[in-house]
Amino acid sequence: MIYTAILGHGTVGSGVAEILIKHNKHVSEKVHDDISVKYILELRDFSNLSYAAKFTKDFEKIINDNDVKIVAEVMGGISPAYDFVKRCLMSGKSVVSSNKELVAAKGAELLEIAAKNNVNFLFEASVGGGIPILRPIAQCLAANDINTITGILNGTTNYILNKMIVDGMDFATALSLAKEKGFAEKDPTADIEGHDACRKICILASLAFGKHVYPEQVKTEGISKVTLEDVSYADKFNCAIKLIARAKRLPNGKICADVSPRLVGKNNILSSVDGVFNAIVVRGDATGDVMFYGKGAGKMPTASAVVADIIDCAKHLHARKYFYWQDGESDYVVDENSKERLYVLLKSSDFKSLVDSFNNAFPENTWNIKNEYSGEIAFITDEDFEDKIFAKIKKIKYDSFKYMKALI
Ligand code: HSE
Repeated sequence: MIYTAILGHGTVGSGVAEILIKHNKHVSEKVHDDISVKYILELRDFSNLSYAAKFTKDFEKIINDNDVKIVAEVMGGISPAYDFVKRCLMSGKSVVSSNKELVAAKGAELLEIAAKNNVNFLFEASVGGGIPILRPIAQCLAANDINTITGILNGTTNYILNKMIVDGMDFATALSLAKEKGFAEKDPTADIEGHDACRKICILASLAFGKHVYPEQVKTEGISKVTLEDVSYADKFNCAIKLIARAKRLPNGKICADVSPRLVGKNNILSSVDGVFNAIVVRGDATGDVMFYGKGAGKMPTASAVVADIIDCAKHLHARKYFYWQDGESDYVVDENSKERLYVLLKSSDFKSLVDSFNNAFPENTWNIKNEYSGEIAFITDEDFEDKIFAKIKKIKYDSFKYMKALI
């Protein structure tokens, strides 16, 4: 018999309990041993559930029970999850986690503690929900030097953007639907402002490139400034707006990484990743591009990845897995200053001056929409260094200006 404990009974935790308890026979067959959930740590009352007897509010009961060999941390957040995970690993229990905030902040340290204590720390569910992505990077693509990772890593924002594009739904209504469906974080600011996607690209980059990339090192912008107007212009330019996370290894061994909304051309496969789906394109030197696609959020897809990690730990109770990366460094992540294409939206109460000065500043630009009714020009620039593009924009007579990067 292998005993497990689940820390947290929220969206993901209840899915994990459901699979382990209701589909116990199936899971036990996979492990070739009986798997049992001994405790579920949760402060809220779930006394109406058939497995109510397993609930406890006391973490000490779990940590002091030597029968418990595997702990699933599905609470989210840093505190108290960090302390609980550390103590479990130090007391010889393997830990699996869906907690991207924790792994992105403390992954290197927790992996090292796991190694020292000869137990496993696995977190497949922390990136891409139900999509297998960490094992493929660590194992299946191990022969490659990975050059870039580009992805749609947040289901909530992708769902919201899709609702705005397809149904013309406003931002707030789309967000409340995403919350209802269990996609969004407890505090959806993490989704909207790009922090969740940032944490996930940090985990992917740390694993792929071998050194910890910390969230505060990654330039991050969310979708809160994207309007229905932008969505509609993007559509007219044959693009879709997506929150894109990118990490790239530079020839000098440094990394550049960012998260930002981008106009993605409809000929780019990422433009058709809709709703709660995530997609991650990993470019290896031997394989070229490899794409991973699936549901990136939600109770059962995420629980599926957590339970798979539990099964893996159960099958390797006395063997270490292959996940590892070193601590990061303050100068490891740098600005690349690469050439970009920009989508720019300019408004002015003096439309004629706006058009004249735009034509002078960008005489060759043919990819633009001039809207006299709203006093706007929307355009997409050629690829160039951002400071050069901004120097040209400065010459235009506009009242207000916004821009977004493009991936075309
Ligand atoms: N809030 C996250 C998302 C959940 O929307 O992608 C999955 O990590």
